Amino acid sequence: MSPQVPPGPIQIRNLVPTVKKVFAVGSGKGGVGKSSVAVNLAIALQKLGKTVGLLDADIYGPSCPQLLSTANAEVRLVGENRLVPIECFGLKTISIGNLVPPDRATIWRGPMVHQALTQLLGGVEWGKLDYLILDLPPGTGDVHLTMMQSVKVDGAIVVSTPQEVALADVRKFIDMCRQLTIPMAGVIENMAYFECAHGERYHLFGQGGAKRMSEALTIPFLGEIPLLEAITQSGEKGTPYAIEDRGGIFETIAKRIG
Ligand SMILES: Nc1ncnc2c1ncn2[C@@H]1O[C@H](COP(=O)(O)OP(=O)(O)OP(=O)(O)O)[C@@H](O)[C@H]1O
Ligand SMILES: [Mg+2]
Repeated sequence: MSPQVPPGPIQIRNLVPTVKKVFAVGSGKGGVGKSSVAVNLAIALQKLGKTVGLLDADIYGPSCPQLLSTANAEVRLVGENRLVPIECFGLKTISIGNLVPPDRATIWRGPMVHQALTQLLGGVEWGKLDYLILDLPPGTGDVHLTMMQSVKVDGAIVVSTPQEVALADVRKFIDMCRQLTIPMAGVIENMAYFECAHGERYHLFGQGGAKRMSEALTIPFLGEIPLLEAITQSGEKGTPYAIEDRGGIFETIAKRIG
């Protein structure tokens, strides 16, 4: 049997029937800002009056507990061992990082990962949500397949930095979505430029690479996010940048997908 998943629509179960729309934030490439975008877009959508959940699907390297200050929050159980998502900043959220001790590595094989992810989706009392945002790990592997087989993803939000070394992996992620017939919500260019105190822009990782790729692949371009110290700092503090969203960066993108 070939280990390669055959192209075409996959068999989908809907483990989150109370959710209207699911967006998956992914990239293929590591460290380009997927989790930061997922968290801040979730906040921006919530500020537009939507009810929003955020599921951290990164089993090996969960970031949402740090980005949302939920690392020490306790996850309650209701009914027959159903998990109650953590409420923070107006979002409902859960991560494997809320269930295993911090600094404990999850050294799990595929079936364990699959089980944990389906539990985080279908074993959670999400309640009625307008949007559930999935923060995907890097790559195009088991986690992605499980997520996309367990919920109908209404749109993939692709995050890339401008340089070719990132775009090469991002194209693979887009190809995976296309093979699995996941619709593309659009591409976001993160760390697009750095603006100095005098207003001069420096394109540290090249200029417009993700936008050109989105045009070449006929995928909507959702916008660019500059490299901002305030975004890094908000991640360090665990208070999302989009709560204040100076410049309306995330609000603009949220309005395009919402
Ligand atoms: N636009 C930005 N400006 C400044 N810092 C940013 C920006 N986007 C992301 N960062 C920072 O870059 C680092 C990596 O971001 P993040 O964890 O969101 O990436 P990721 O793609 O989810 O990584 P991984 O592949 O490990 O899941 C974090 O420290 C984050 O605060
Ligand atoms: Mg991440």
